[in-house]
Amino acid sequence: MSQISGKPVSYWIDSTSTDNFPSLIQATFDSVSVDVAIVGAGIAGVTTAFLLKRAGKTVALLEANEIATGVSGHTTAKVTSLHQLVYANLIKEAGEQKAKLYAQSNQAAVEQVAALVQEEQIACDFSRQNAYTFAETEENLGQIKDEVEAAMQLGLPASYVSEVSLPFPIAGAIRFTNQAQFHPRKYLAHLAKKIYGDGSYVFENTRVTQVEEGDPCQIITNQGVVHAKDVVVTTNVPILDQGLFFAKAYPKRSYIIGAEISPEQAPEGMLIGTGEGYRSIRTTPYNGKLLLLIGGEGHKVGSRSDTETCYQNLENYARSRFGVQSIDYRWSTQDMVSFDQLPYIGKLTPFNDHIYVATGFSLWGMSNGTMSGMLLSDLLLGIENPWANLYDSTRATPFVKPTSLKENMDVGIHWVGDRLKGLQDNSFDEVAPGEGKLLTLGTNKVAAYRDESGTVHAVSATCTHLGCIVNWNSAEKSWDCPCHGGRFSCDGEVLHGPPVKGLEAIEG
Ligand SMILES: Cc1cc2nc3c(=O)[nH]c(=O)nc-3n(C[C@H](O)[C@H](O)[C@H](O)COP(=O)(O)OP(=O)(O)OC[C@H]3O[C@@H](n4cnc5c(N)ncnc54)[C@H](O)[C@@H]3O)c2cc1C
Ligand code: FES
Repeated sequence: MSQISGKPVSYWIDSTSTDNFPSLIQATFDSVSVDVAIVGAGIAGVTTAFLLKRAGKTVALLEANEIATGVSGHTTAKVTSLHQLVYANLIKEAGEQKAKLYAQSNQAAVEQVAALVQEEQIACDFSRQNAYTFAETEENLGQIKDEVEAAMQLGLPASYVSEVSLPFPIAGAIRFTNQAQFHPRKYLAHLAKKIYGDGSYVFENTRVTQVEEGDPCQIITNQGVVHAKDVVVTTNVPILDQGLFFAKAYPKRSYIIGAEISPEQAPEGMLIGTGEGYRSIRTTPYNGKLLLLIGGEGHKVGSRSDTETCYQNLENYARSRFGVQSIDYRWSTQDMVSFDQLPYIGKLTPFNDHIYVATGFSLWGMSNGTMSGMLLSDLLLGIENPWANLYDSTRATPFVKPTSLKENMDVGIHWVGDRLKGLQDNSFDEVAPGEGKLLTLGTNKVAAYRDESGTVHAVSATCTHLGCIVNWNSAEKSWDCPCHGGRFSCDGEVLHGPPVKGLEAIEG
């Protein structure tokens, strides 16, 4: 196995010490009643809970792990309404009016983050930055020019520039001024602290397994039950299947490395490329210098096993393009990409009056997730919101779009075809140290990993969500489901939804 450079942890998590919140049992409550229960403490959940508490509601924020250790703790954390290339296409597909609402709501989210940082005096390395989408070749320049035109038409702070401060030539770029960047975990930890108290709660290490709608709703966790008039599910991909969100968006995994860079070598602003193999680039304060973050190498979750290559490609890029000497950090994460580019925010289904969701942020959840908190809190407070129809989670879904059809057909192909994997491997002896492999033991499909000390970690290979067969992810040492993005540790614990139950252990 090849060596990958960098500490394998998100810089945002490594550089934050947070106050830990109790689990439901540790807090000695076996039952809690609040106005609103929020499931999942990423940017969508924390923002929703914070705004509701500020408006006078009692809330319980329930997190399976720790605050902001999911996608929001592994993001690049650009807070911008410049979403690579989205506006020209949105105008074409959804019309100018809807595209304008998308633009306005995401700009409002950028300003909401800025306002909270200011009002709450949050020390989170917040700074105003320009955001750029650049084309390296003339071939992609047309898209940039179309995007500039579309963004200007929608009233966004956009202009065309022919140069950016990257240390290599580009063909041209779109620039949005007065955008922002921050340290997402410091920001969210601060807001979470403000949620706790006066009849409101934050529970960590409390996994929700089921939600029953009623008067009140019951939120069943591995630690006891919470009662609430309304429930908001912000688990990135909803853990409740009724809304079929796992089939209205697909899970995209992407990689980030962090390398120390001097201010003189560092590029200005937040940048993202276009076309195959695009990179996302920004810096953040780091030990009196800067940490250069480079992201990219995205692919559908569970579709690649040789994920070390993704990190190596980013490292080669950082060394050759920016002359960095060493890689300090590496991490990866995933997000749900909506088939019609618009997040789903609102009721779980048309038949649910008290269960709400937010998902499908398409790798732009710092603004989309903040915006979903603003919209959800308005919906729950009975305040009319002009964005509600655009993001209505029960809207007719474009199942017939080519991308949607392909992704959902892929799921069917995996469900059937992956059962044939590992048919010829039927002994733990087939698994080398450091390797993860699918085996067939009797009638069982087994996911087996042998650690460097020789111990075998064996679990059922059948995903507890809807029964697809998991795939090995070599860099993260995890079992990833190619159907809807569920991920499990090598011992079978859930790392990422939609599954809520771990993979069954098998005697090694
Ligand atoms: C590589 C990468 C880079 C990105 N960069 C940017 C960027 O620069 N700018 C930008 O705007 N967006 C970016 N994004 C997107 C953005 O990070 C996400 O859209 C956003 O963080 C998602 O927030 P969330 O609240 O939906 O999910 P999360 O942050 O994952 O929060 C969901 C929480 O729910 C918890 N949970 C799950 N199941 C349960 C359960 N059963 N019970 C209780 N809790 C549960 C999880 O532990 C998690 O903490 C990026 C995405 C990726 C993949
Ligand atoms: S995540 Fe749906 S079947 Fe695995």
